[in-house]
This record gives sequence, structure tokens and C-alpha cells, in this order.
Amino acid sequence: MRKPFIAGNWKMNLLCESSVDLAQRLTSLLAGDSSVQVALCPPAVYLQQVATALQGSSIELGAQNMSPEKEGAFTGEVSGSMLKDVGCHCVILGHSERRQFFGETDASVNAKTKAALSYGLTPIVCVGEMLEQREAGTTAKVIDAQVRGSLNGLTPEHAGQIVIAYEPVWAIGTGKTASPAQAEEVHAQIRKLLAELFGASVSESIRIQYGGSVKPDNAAELMGQPNIDGALVGGAALKADSFAAIVAAAR
Ligand code: PGA
Repeated sequence: MRKPFIAGNWKMNLLCESSVDLAQRLTSLLAGDSSVQVALCPPAVYLQQVATALQGSSIELGAQNMSPEKEGAFTGEVSGSMLKDVGCHCVILGHSERRQFFGETDASVNAKTKAALSYGLTPIVCVGEMLEQREAGTTAKVIDAQVRGSLNGLTPEHAGQIVIAYEPVWAIGTGKTASPAQAEEVHAQIRKLLAELFGASVSESIRIQYGGSVKPDNAAELMGQPNIDGALVGGAALKADSFAAIVAAAR
């Protein structure tokens, strides 16, 4: 059985006070529930304050990006050891907004994934097709290339430690969700590819989150699909009640 994993991607939203407030509300709303793994991914500048707010709770801390480099002259970057130092468990890598607006490629996501694993951080590796690609019937091909490229050269042991997030780009922040059947079709494809790359038992252990306009009213049906093991939540993660309701739907 794969434990469901819900991560909140706050993106570039909230300020210090509202970040701490949201984290504190969630620690009380979700207290005592260990059946679902939960992580909050605030902007890097507030990781420390959110870490403090989460102390003593089972909610984990995550980052939205990291450098593949260890340290040195990389102005504006944040390293894996810094994320570890501040208490992060996981890091979102290759989010479609980073691929679209910041030039991330499968190769850079691959380098970051390996770096994250070397620090004991769980990479949440994001993949997803654009609307034109879905309409052109190339979704399967696009996802195949992204998964192979992003995970290139990982050992089965390392692959067993990652999480994948399937986020169709046309569903992110648009209010348009993939139907449970559309999402499940891609999740099953990813699982099959993971088995080919890393073996059946590793593939069966990897959590594959769905992301793209996940809301309290569609979460249960999406996560009820056999290969959907949780969610990467954007907009609905910015309100304690809606995020807690999505976690409840994963139980
Ligand atoms: P959304 O974002 O839930 O606002 O669609 C999801 C994501 O980008 O991870």
C-alpha cells in the first residue's frame, strides 16, 4: 500500500505573517492524523518561519526549487544543504512554471533530482503536457520523454525514494481538472514506464501525485483512482480549510 502524499505548493504567494498563520492553522486542523503524508512548500524566504510553526507536528516542510550545485558563486540560488539545514524533507523539481518561465529542461531537472537525493531530500519530480500536445495526441510521448529524461541514470534504490507529480499544464490554475479517467490513464502509463526502468517492485512503491486544479470537491474522486497516490495542490493550498479538506479526501 502506498501512503497518500499531499503537498501544498504555495508558489510566490503570502507574506511572513500569513505563511506562519496558514501553517499554524493546518497543524491544528490536521493534528493526530498520520494516515496521509502532508508537506507545505512555502516560498524559500519563509522556510525558516514555517519550519518553526510546524515544530512538533507531523506536517513536513518542502521547497519549490533548488540548485543542482553544492555551493559557491551562484547568485540567487539555494542549495540542497541549505534546504536540509532549514528542515526541509522534500523539494518540488521541474514544476511546469519553472520549465515554462525559467528554462528548466529534463536535463536540469535530472541534475537537481540527483542533487536532492544526495542530501536525503525527497524530490517531487513534475511532468505534464501542454494543451497543444494533448490536442495533438502526443501526451503519452511527451510524458514518456519527461520521465525518462528527468530520472535518467537513477539507480532503482534512488528511484524508490522519489515522488512524481503528473500535472497537465492546461489544468494548472485554470479551474479545468483532468477527469479522473484522463489522469488515471497517464498515471498508469507512468507506473508502467517506472517498472520498465526500475523494476516492478520499485515502481509499485513510488507515489504519483496528480496536480492541476485539485479542490475539495474533486479530490476524492481523483485520488480514488488506482494509480493516483495524492496531490500537488496550488491555489487550494492557500486556504487552511480547503487544503485540510483535500487531505481528508485522501484518507
Ligand atoms: P493549482 O496548481 O492547484 O492551482 O492548479 C497546482 C500546481 O501548480 O502545483
